[in-house]
Amino acid sequence: MSAAPGRPRIQATVRTAQTLAERDGHFAVRQAVFVNDQRLFRESDRDEIDDDPGTIHLVADAGGLVVGAVRIYPLGATNRWQGDRLAVLPDYRASRVGVDLVQLAVRTAARHGGLVMEAHVQVANVPFFESLGWQVQGPTEIYVAALHQPMVCDLTGPGR
Ligand SMILES: CC(C)(COP(=O)(O)OP(=O)(O)OC[C@H]1O[C@@H](n2cnc3c(N)ncnc32)[C@H](O)[C@@H]1OP(=O)(O)O)[C@@H](O)C(=O)NCCC(=O)NCCS
Repeated sequence: MSAAPGRPRIQATVRTAQTLAERDGHFAVRQAVFVNDQRLFRESDRDEIDDDPGTIHLVADAGGLVVGAVRIYPLGATNRWQGDRLAVLPDYRASRVGVDLVQLAVRTAARHGGLVMEAHVQVANVPFFESLGWQVQGPTEIYVAALHQPMVCDLTGPGR
C-alpha cells in the first residue's frame, strides 16, 4: 500500500502528545476515523482510559497538523500494555505514518517496563500488524461492535 501514484509521501513526526493542542489533535483524528468514517462509536470514542494518568497519547504531526493517533496504557499492575485507537487521517495514509506510530507505541511501552503489548486488531489490518512482528493470539472476537483479532507483540525483542 504505497502512497497513491502522483502523491508525495507525507513526512510526519511521531511523538507523545505534549500540549493541549496535540492532545486535542489526537482526539480529533480518532473522532474523524472511528466515529465519522467507521461509525464504530455513535458520538465519541473517548472513555475513562483517556482520563487515566497512566495512559499515553501518541500523535503523528505533519507540518503542525496532527494526522495520526494511537494510545497505549498498562494493564493493571502487570508488565502487559495495551495499544488501541490507532488511526491515520485518510489523506495521510500509505506514507508509513501508521508504521511509525506502532513502532513508537512499542518502544514507549518497552521503555516503561512493558514486556508484552496486546491489541484488538480489526481483521483487515492483521497483515499490517504481522508485518511489524505482531502475532495472532486466539480466535477473533467482537470488540467495540466489530470483528477483531487479538494480537500480541513481544516488547523484549531487538530494537525495542
Ligand atoms: C491501519 C492504518 C492505521 C494504517 O496507516 P497507514 O499510515 O496508512 O499505514 P502505513 O502507510 O504505515 O502502512 C505501511 C505498510 O503497511 C501495509 N498496510 C497498511 N495497511 C494495511 C492493511 N490494512 N493490510 C495490509 N497491509 C497494510 C502496506 O503494505 C504498507 O506497505 P508499503 O511499505 O508497501 O507502503 C490506517 O489505514 C487507518 O487509520 N485505518 C482506519 C482505522 C483503523 O483501521 N485502525 C486500526 C484499527 S486495528
